[in-house]
Amino acid sequence: MQLLDGKLLSENIKLELAAEVEQLRQQGKKIPHLAAVLVGEDSASQVYVSSKIKSCEQVGFKSSLVRRPADTTEEELLQIVYDLNNDPDVDGFIVQLPLPKHISEERITLAIDHRKDVDGFHPINFGRMAQGMPAFLPATPFGIVEMLRRYNIETAGKHCVVVGRSNIVGTPMALLLSRKGYPGDCTVTLVHSRTQHIEDEIRQADIVVAAIGKPNFVQGDWIKEGAVVIDVGINRIPDPSKKSGSRLVGDVDFDAVAPKCSHITPVPGGVGLMTVTALLMNTLKACRKEIYS
Ligand code: GUN
Repeated sequence: MQLLDGKLLSENIKLELAAEVEQLRQQGKKIPHLAAVLVGEDSASQVYVSSKIKSCEQVGFKSSLVRRPADTTEEELLQIVYDLNNDPDVDGFIVQLPLPKHISEERITLAIDHRKDVDGFHPINFGRMAQGMPAFLPATPFGIVEMLRRYNIETAGKHCVVVGRSNIVGTPMALLLSRKGYPGDCTVTLVHSRTQHIEDEIRQADIVVAAIGKPNFVQGDWIKEGAVVIDVGINRIPDPSKKSGSRLVGDVDFDAVAPKCSHITPVPGGVGLMTVTALLMNTLKACRKEIYS
């Protein structure tokens, strides 16, 4: 069993990005600039956004954080989005989700200029991705395909079972793995909370992508010998033996599943770090106008 080391991989990619920034600087070109908008006090969102800003600093990108209280109105947030759309210095930006209940995530996502949508959440980017056109790919699936590519994991003709159908992970992941080319050319099954006998589907998988948001959901005896297991879950569960009283676990029961796999991502230290790195890769593409001129 080989660990798919998201920490090592993301450190390597960040070194590459830092070298690219240095080259841009020497050529007198624009330095990539990512902005992040955080509304409210959700503690997980605060951690994710800090990690995005810190990663920008590590690679030499410019970053800006726009923080607003939970009672910010939808109109106020829309105005922030319009201002970022029109700011020529900002190459790409994200509005961290979830938003407070009184704000429509759909309305905000649609207001973001798709040319700056480095989260890849806008339907224009999603539609272009689905049709195999150049697009900003959503960060988690982009991070996962990059991981498969850099570990040279074979995908052509493999049976991949994606567990979970969210707009930002499960659904785009299923599309990307079924696309022509590498990594792709998989036969994909997308299973979800209403699938019957989910374990029998997972037992058929050469590659499992678990993104259902349930701690330790995927069991050891659901995994085919030699399968590749990608765990997207980040779940905090109580653990009295820890000083903090809790710990992070994935959607996969790691201890039971790992001995059966050829490759597996740990939690933490797997997909999560690749997600942030993929956002940086998208921001560089935005700055270089690689997707949209
Ligand atoms: N909330 C959970 N994941 C993400 C993400 O990738 N981007 C944004 N904007 N919000 C999120």
